[in-house]
Amino acid sequence: MEKTDNKQAPAAKSAAGLEGVVAATSSVGDVDGTNGVLIYQGYDIHDLAEHSTFEETVYLLWHGRLPTQGELEGLRRELADAAALPEEVLRMMRAFPRDAEPMDALRTAVSALGFYDAGARDLSREGALRTATRLTAQLPVVVAAFERLRKGEEPVAPRPGYNIASNFLYALKGSEPSEREARIFDVCLILHADHELNASTFTSRVIAGTLADMYGAVTGAIAALSGPLHGGANTNVMKMLLEIGSPDRAEGWLKDALAQKKKIMGFGHRVYRTEDPRSVWLRKFSKEIGDEQGETRWYEILETLRAAMFREKKLYPNVDYYSGSAYYLMGIPLDLFTPIFAVSRISGWTAHVLEQYANNRLIRPRAEYTGARGLSYVPIGER
Ligand SMILES: CC(C)(COP(=O)(O)OP(=O)(O)OC[C@H]1O[C@@H](n2cnc3c(N)ncnc32)[C@H](O)[C@@H]1OP(=O)(O)O)[C@@H](O)C(=O)NCCC(=O)NCCS
Repeated sequence: MEKTDNKQAPAAKSAAGLEGVVAATSSVGDVDGTNGVLIYQGYDIHDLAEHSTFEETVYLLWHGRLPTQGELEGLRRELADAAALPEEVLRMMRAFPRDAEPMDALRTAVSALGFYDAGARDLSREGALRTATRLTAQLPVVVAAFERLRKGEEPVAPRPGYNIASNFLYALKGSEPSEREARIFDVCLILHADHELNASTFTSRVIAGTLADMYGAVTGAIAALSGPLHGGANTNVMKMLLEIGSPDRAEGWLKDALAQKKKIMGFGHRVYRTEDPRSVWLRKFSKEIGDEQGETRWYEILETLRAAMFREKKLYPNVDYYSGSAYYLMGIPLDLFTPIFAVSRISGWTAHVLEQYANNRLIRPRAEYTGARGLSYVPIGER
């Protein structure tokens, strides 16, 4: 039984939602919420979005430095070799309800992947990197396979030579993505890769901190990401746009929603007090794809809402605000937006888990007790 010392007060009075609490040291990424700066291992997100690729970003997050050409090719090869799902997991996925939430399907499939990895419990740096590679390679395959299976179609085998972004779009739709579409998607994966100690990453570190395996840590992280206050917001933003329907209805819709004290999806952030740097890129993509397709309605609604929200609440859009409209115009189903977030964030989760394993101490904070003390047991018949 755990020893408690009731005379000892908890060390610090915690803020609600652990706001502002520093709960780990990390070199993976940092968010400067005042100046709107996001860095991965020292590199500004804008620099990476402009010049890097998702695979290179994965290497950076895991190793703390950009790869050489040979190292990048090595990682690409390892990812390609690890992408195929065990037949048993595919069989299991065929039995999933077709109307299951894709995030639930992903969570269950990732948990099951652990059964078929004999090295899952090797938490050495080498073993954990191998598991991280498998998970990063297999998550997009799981999401695309689930999408096809629920439509009654067979999963599509990955194309050799394609990167994760192209392969995912190809596996989802069964047709080759255009070069521009693949690049935009690749940048979306870079932008979502890490975000310091967000709720799902914190979850993964807490689980890893018990020395549970990486499949467990990532399964928990997927559950945390699925909620509407975290990764679930991108789908809800698109639902909101569909409900609003046209730009001229946006102001009225927002007024009603705010009067009802509703949280407007895609706005606000625990850390940013200015524009989320990721949303700058996603806004650009949302506009570009809309213009290209002659479907500017969603972008116009987004911009009308953005101006009105700033006027009314001084709140800025977050990462989930523009991504949904870009994915929607790419023909991706709404309920896959959050799984796509996971397909990218797996890189950050695994980087944090690697860091946790490398310098582990069990994460076990205290609660400030607000209940009664000193009560005496009353037999049930006398209550
Ligand atoms: C992200 C989020 C969970 C951060 O929550 P938080 O740090 O606990 O912030 P709070 O909920 O305490 O918000 C502070 C104030 O801003 C308001 N606010 C924050 N986000 C808001 C939103 N999206 N719509 C309307 N009001 C919002 C709150 O009502 C609160 O106002 P009050 O002080 O008058 O009560 C919150 O902004 C939110 O729910 N956003 C919508 C969901 C979303 O887009 N999530 C993705 C995050 S990347």
